[in-house]
Amino acid sequence: MSSIQHSRFLSALAKQPVDCTPVWIMRQAGRYLPEYRAVREQIKDFMTLCKTPERACEVTLQPLARFPLDAAIIFSDILTIPDAMGLGLYFENNEGPKFKHRIQNMQDVNALSVPNVEQDLDYVFAAIRLVIKELPSHIPLIGFSGSPFTLATYMVEGGGSKNFHRIRQFLYTEPEALQLLLEKLTTAVTGYLLSQIAAGARTVMIFDTWGGILTTESYQRFSLQPMSKIVAKLKQQHPNVPVILFTKNGGLWLREMSDSGADALGLDWTINIGRARQLVGDKVALQGNMDPAILYSTGDRIRQEVAAILDNYGPGSGHIFNLGHGIHPDIPPDNVKILVDAVHELSRTKHMATI
Ligand code: CP3
Repeated sequence: MSSIQHSRFLSALAKQPVDCTPVWIMRQAGRYLPEYRAVREQIKDFMTLCKTPERACEVTLQPLARFPLDAAIIFSDILTIPDAMGLGLYFENNEGPKFKHRIQNMQDVNALSVPNVEQDLDYVFAAIRLVIKELPSHIPLIGFSGSPFTLATYMVEGGGSKNFHRIRQFLYTEPEALQLLLEKLTTAVTGYLLSQIAAGARTVMIFDTWGGILTTESYQRFSLQPMSKIVAKLKQQHPNVPVILFTKNGGLWLREMSDSGADALGLDWTINIGRARQLVGDKVALQGNMDPAILYSTGDRIRQEVAAILDNYGPGSGHIFNLGHGIHPDIPPDNVKILVDAVHELSRTKHMATI
């Protein structure tokens, strides 16, 4: 058997039999871990950490040393692409990301050049190469990117946002400029993910954190279409590398997403995973979808929730357990251990009847 067949995570993505349900956690390397905070004490600037391959490798591996997770995700950020496009990304004391320059009109979009990903984002690929040397072969590394629409949102807003006024205004007043921006980002994201695969990523995930703010029609045109183009390009070159799409608040559009060519869809916690399975049928695997806030609760309550999600998914493979969004920085790491163990233990009896 090849090492790929030994990976629970890759088997579940291919809807092939597994001994138990694989699990990893969005933002599994992050501030809830004291060892991550210790690194951040030494490297105060978040992007410097991302741009130092040895240290990015170290923090990627931190959660795997503590918990029997079934996949690693490269430590980086979705905003590396706008950073490489010269927007001047910075993080100010826990206020989230900000850009020195934001995109306001067609002139700004015309002035943007697609980055030379191999060169400008070489630190990401260097970190990937270091990580895969350290990982056992049954633990695949996930590469990732933001979706074109989510990246455009940050670039037009100039950072995070609560009500998304600027991007929603831009969409209706400058649709051609948005379209061109998305085309440039689609090219950049495609090249970025191809290079991550070349460096050793064995699955890639596209984070569409803000597609869920759109109308159904705009979602199709401005978010799903660019993502589908990326999936098609990746599949042309790497038919066997699974692609996961995650639109936060995208539960209404799962059926359309399942036609994108992606292998799996990420789910936030708002949809019942059994209902999601009915909507997508056999087309894709599903990843998710526990409310991250459950991790504030007791061990018993966490186990109960894990059991409920496994029951809702039902028998058979095709489920990768995860949270519905990133883990909060103030979660006790012991509760993550309870979660990971519960997924492995409870799924052996619940999911695996078909083996
Ligand atoms: O999952 C992982 O362990 C891999 C690392 C990872 C990070 N960001 C590290 C990070 C991943 C996959 C991301 C993706 C990302 N970044 C997304 C998509 C996923 C999502 O959450 O919807 C988005 C929207 C971003 C943009 C971003 N980066 C924000 C909004 C923030 C601030 C968040 C906060 O909690 O302050 C970041 C910074 C960031 N990226 C941190 C980490 C661990 C926290 C920075 C720190 O260490 O101080």
